[in-house]
Amino acid sequence: MVARPTNPHQFYYREADYLIAGILETRMRALELACGTGGSTAIHYRHVSDLVSTDFSMKMVRGAAHRRDWKLVHFLVADASDLPFRDGIFHAVFSRGVLLSYVPDPMRMLREARRVLRRGGKLALDAMNQIQGSSRTRTRLFCMMGERPAYVEHAVQAGLQVRWIHWLDRRSPFVKLARKEEKPESRPRNLAKHVTSVERFEGRLFRPQQLIRLVEQAGFREVNVVPLGHLAYTLGFADKRLREFARSRGRDLSRLYLQLGSHFRLDTALHLFVSAKRR
Ligand SMILES: C[S@@+](CC[C@H](N)C(=O)[O-])C[C@H]1O[C@@H](n2cnc3c(N)ncnc32)[C@H](O)[C@@H]1O
Repeated sequence: MVARPTNPHQFYYREADYLIAGILETRMRALELACGTGGSTAIHYRHVSDLVSTDFSMKMVRGAAHRRDWKLVHFLVADASDLPFRDGIFHAVFSRGVLLSYVPDPMRMLREARRVLRRGGKLALDAMNQIQGSSRTRTRLFCMMGERPAYVEHAVQAGLQVRWIHWLDRRSPFVKLARKEEKPESRPRNLAKHVTSVERFEGRLFRPQQLIRLVEQAGFREVNVVPLGHLAYTLGFADKRLREFARSRGRDLSRLYLQLGSHFRLDTALHLFVSAKRR
């Protein structure tokens, strides 16, 4: 799903990975939060000598552990807001995939990360940005989620990104649109007839200054926020050749974009990346 050329994750995940790799060092013992099925673990396990990767979902951790023959990674089921580790044992805590936007209490999660870090230990993770003007838009998309056809709507409501997934009947005529990733202007009027169930998800959106304050208040210093994902806007370019160029040269463009990061406004980035040191 993430690897699909039309998925904006490919840009901000890759950019987050470059930045996470930048804070990791070979001699470190690191903790990964919310490892999912190990996509991010596979990128970063080589960068440290000892890695503990965690997720609160047993299913995810199982998927990650079976992904390949890991030699240097320990997998564990653990809630990022209530970690089972002793104080001050990690040199770095990192996460990719906007965990901070999903936990019920971001301050509690950050304090847990601080507790398990040594003094001067490094924190690196991403979060969803409250993009300026985003509260006025609602986006709609037919897509395949895994193998399942879906119609997805996103909207911003009171600082939250709300996502409704309408699972489509596999025999519905909309399945064709899901395969083509159509973006309708409005919700199709007869949609309800073809939907088997609806799920609602919420993610917290952070304004850059709010994120900086939160991390400082949790007991970190040298807090730095970097914009992620501006390149994803190229996926919407009308010029097909430019779109294809952006996709095919994604790696180089992501690096270039990070070099230019300080030129972009933080409030237009899709995601924010925060790094800091434990006080
Ligand atoms: C978008 S996925 C990211 C997975 C992976 N890091 C990646 O980049 O491919 C978010 C993950 O956060 C996990 N998660 C959500 N809340 C969590 C919590 N409180 N503690 C630990 N993991 C959590 C979910 O189970 C899910 O695997």
